[in-house]
Amino acid sequence: MSEQTLSQIAKAMVANGKGILAADESSGNIKKKFEKLGVEDMSENHRRYRELLFTAPGMEKYISGVILFDETIRQATSDGLPFAQYLSSKGVVPGIKVDIGLKDMDGHVGEQVTKWDDTLDARLKEYYALGARFAKWRVVINIGAGIPSDECIETNCKTLTEYARLCQANGIVPIVEPEVLMDGDHTIDRCYEVTHKTLSTLFSELKKANVDLSGLILKPNMVVYSSNGEKVSADIVAQKTLQCFKETVPAEVPGIVFLSGGQSEPESCVNLNAINKLAKEQNSPWKLTFSYGRALQNSALKNWSGKEENKIKSQEIFAHRAQLASAASLGEYKIEME
Ligand code: G3H
Repeated sequence: MSEQTLSQIAKAMVANGKGILAADESSGNIKKKFEKLGVEDMSENHRRYRELLFTAPGMEKYISGVILFDETIRQATSDGLPFAQYLSSKGVVPGIKVDIGLKDMDGHVGEQVTKWDDTLDARLKEYYALGARFAKWRVVINIGAGIPSDECIETNCKTLTEYARLCQANGIVPIVEPEVLMDGDHTIDRCYEVTHKTLSTLFSELKKANVDLSGLILKPNMVVYSSNGEKVSADIVAQKTLQCFKETVPAEVPGIVFLSGGQSEPESCVNLNAINKLAKEQNSPWKLTFSYGRALQNSALKNWSGKEENKIKSQEIFAHRAQLASAASLGEYKIEME
């Protein structure tokens, strides 16, 4: 079969009614999740859990791609088929998290930057050989008193751009993820302002570097209330989110895949659904779907809790969440489906 172009891969990642499973929890993150549930934090348990998700019957009807972690792309199903090959055989595109995490920004209290890594180019080549066709790089923008600073937004957008350029040079579709965190008690208008600034800076950098926008996927936060702030309706989330994108995200970008960022499982569907309903009315140019981690996995992981006898039920729970997120990506979700 001939190699797909970046734009063909990007389109497949946002195929109608499908979205992405973020199963790329870092070693530290999965350790915390497992410890909370009393599951021993060992590589074989990570593998068993990921296998449960990837082999869930019917998941490929709703999931277009899976973001793997470095450990996971080197692991295989119980039958010995490498996960990347297994996913590809189901028509699910394998992807890989390539950023190596955050560090405090020098001279900027409360702000963080994603660490740069000079081995990125070599790693992308290896991940391609292992089957990855897209990658993910996450930067984090905190909202607080006097932050974010312009320097923090600029530094993070520059590394995202350099990462995107290297991905495309290696035949890999970059997911660019500038996450404005929900943490805090700020208003939705403050989230709008910071997201707007971040996305305009990002696309200005991407254009300057000649990154091919048709071969890239954006993974942003929704313009949403903060974790300790006043909640607003999904209709307002949808209006503000689409207004922000209309002013900042070029139409050539084929797809926008949201992170769940701490929203509950149903909340992430209610909000995505409202966004898609409004997008249809407004004739928005991009596919708007999900790339959820927690909002697809929380209940399934809790139900599993490391026990083999819970596997089938956990797969059903995960597939059901994927089905609901898929419905929301089409604007067809209803709370009664929960
Ligand atoms: O980078 C963030 C993850 O890929 C998505 O995670 O949906 O739990 O926010 P989340």
